[in-house]
Amino acid sequence: MSDEKIYPVPADFAARAHLKAADYEALYARSLADRDGFWAEQAGRFVSWFEPWRTVCEEDLAAGHIRWFAGGKLNVAWNCLDRHLATRGEQTALIWEGDDPAFARHVTYRELHDEVCRLANVLKTRGVKKGDRVCIYMPMIPAAVAAMLACARIGAVHSVVFGGFSPESIKSRILDSDCRVVITADQGLRGGKAIPLKANVDQALEGCPNVHTVLVYRHTGADIAWQDGRDGWYQDLLASASADCPAEPMDAEDPLFILYTSGSTGKPKGVLHTTGGYLTYVALTHKYVFDYHDGDVYWCTADVGWVTGHSYIVYGPLANGATSLVFEGVPTHPTPARFWEVIDKHQVNIFYTAPTAIRALMRAGDGPVLGTSRKSLRLLGSVGEPINPEAWEWYHRVVGEGRCPIVDTWWQTETGGILISPLPGATALKPGSATKPLFGIEPALMDADGNELPGAASGNLVLKRSWPGMMRSVYGDHQRFIDTYLKAYPGYYFTGDGCRRDEDGYYWITGRVDDVINVSGHRLGTAEIESALVLHPAVAEAAVVGYPHEIKGQGIYAFVTLMAGREPTPALRDELLATVRKEIGAIASPDVIQWAPGLPKTRSGKIMRRILRKIAENDLASIGDTTTLADPTVVEELVANRG
Ligand code: PRX
Repeated sequence: MSDEKIYPVPADFAARAHLKAADYEALYARSLADRDGFWAEQAGRFVSWFEPWRTVCEEDLAAGHIRWFAGGKLNVAWNCLDRHLATRGEQTALIWEGDDPAFARHVTYRELHDEVCRLANVLKTRGVKKGDRVCIYMPMIPAAVAAMLACARIGAVHSVVFGGFSPESIKSRILDSDCRVVITADQGLRGGKAIPLKANVDQALEGCPNVHTVLVYRHTGADIAWQDGRDGWYQDLLASASADCPAEPMDAEDPLFILYTSGSTGKPKGVLHTTGGYLTYVALTHKYVFDYHDGDVYWCTADVGWVTGHSYIVYGPLANGATSLVFEGVPTHPTPARFWEVIDKHQVNIFYTAPTAIRALMRAGDGPVLGTSRKSLRLLGSVGEPINPEAWEWYHRVVGEGRCPIVDTWWQTETGGILISPLPGATALKPGSATKPLFGIEPALMDADGNELPGAASGNLVLKRSWPGMMRSVYGDHQRFIDTYLKAYPGYYFTGDGCRRDEDGYYWITGRVDDVINVSGHRLGTAEIESALVLHPAVAEAAVVGYPHEIKGQGIYAFVTLMAGREPTPALRDELLATVRKEIGAIASPDVIQWAPGLPKTRSGKIMRRILRKIAENDLASIGDTTTLADPTVVEELVANRG
């Protein structure tokens, strides 16, 4: 497009950046021409190894066999903590900003190391060994980071469950990976509201007989139920534990964590990430995408319950010895100026957030932004969904005063780290484009017949080779890993995203091409929400689709067919919403429920989601041909009664 706006790299930014345009070109070319040589060099530079690896990469994508740095020994917690103690023990590792602006705290590398070692010893005394799974269900407090690192220190595999998920969701995740220990808090706080974390865990554990230990961080001091023998207070147990805990030498391919994520079918999958390649990848991308320099204050507003929190609040930044801000609250509490006030309060230099937050704050007007200085800001970032050019421009012009580049980072839970993104000192920006692939990443666009499309084109986004941070399997179901990601285009990893490449080789992600929706940057499977809805005895059938939503990116639109004899009422609608909240969590609650006497189906009984999407989007002109439906009048009825 000739009229599209291009923002060149600001000269002063490039002057001090780690990588400039020529560096990117040269390194990218080398990373493809000599992939193993490139990554061996980076693994040596970003990670400290107890023992060297035997092979850099073994890969058979069709078979789902991916190994990086096999035979190499390292420990992630040692890399994130111990190796920094001599040079930056007294440096702040984490700045904690509470939900209530009156509470903030700095945690140095030495303090975090001490907490992690004590917690690791507590886990050991509770019988946790290398390879065991531990569930973490925590608010955004430093102890959540300590819990992840304590697992990594002893080789336990953590499965962090986002604090917004319901007891049912916690239960199914605990059971799927057979976690025996849960680390939680009495309550969390978000936007002034208490989240009953321990009560949710108690309820989940009614269905989890193998869990023998619950460690509870005393955070708000609220009264909670207690099960003697099983439950222990985090602070009390740490106080009496030894602060000496050697870091377990792990193989590069030993599991580091499991993180559940939604797909088009079935229950959420346990995405499995391993140790050496993951750490190398997130450390490298953190340093170069955010152009992190020693002394910078870096803030990623994600929650550790999502992959962004894992890779870019905890592992990438701490591997690089960074100062990483952990924020417990929400962007609009107590006012829509909160983000900008926190930036001033802690002199944040690098700020990384999601388009949904930007759109919500943009709606509050420029006033709350302009009342703050933001002079410390040097770089802005975006993640989680496509950012619309209007939001991009506002973020750039108002928040960043036109002087801060924006890195629009495309990646997924499965990819472990950022794959397509500008490097801020190297890449000219186009609002709405994630721009160019990072080192070692070879994207391609495929047509429906599996042909690779050259040049400027639109198609399904795949990756042609593995990279060190890539997921290795679906926990407990390797075949599902192959079926979901590696079968659609044999030999390639299929992302599930649609994408356009322009004549400059810039990538524009257009969104999911499967039945996954992205609501406020939270990824949900429509099938999961449908399964929750049909649990209600009044529901015969449900079909869920996404539709464009001004703030959330996508909203959830549910078409619900009731059992014969059941009448649609507002009370029933509330019951259905409550059912979804109970089964999944409030984030999955439909925005619209439309009562549907029938759903559009083919003669073989397949629901025509394409038609439902058009109705939900109110794009009635493009509903298209309905004559092949079993009963075309169903569509007329749905159109007439749009929610
Ligand atoms: O559709 C893409 C979208 O989010 C999906 C991955 O979601 P999740 O695994 O929850 O990870 C989110 C944080 C990494 C992708 O398949 N997505 C993520 N980042 C972008 C994006 N879409 C467009 N632009 C992005 N920058």
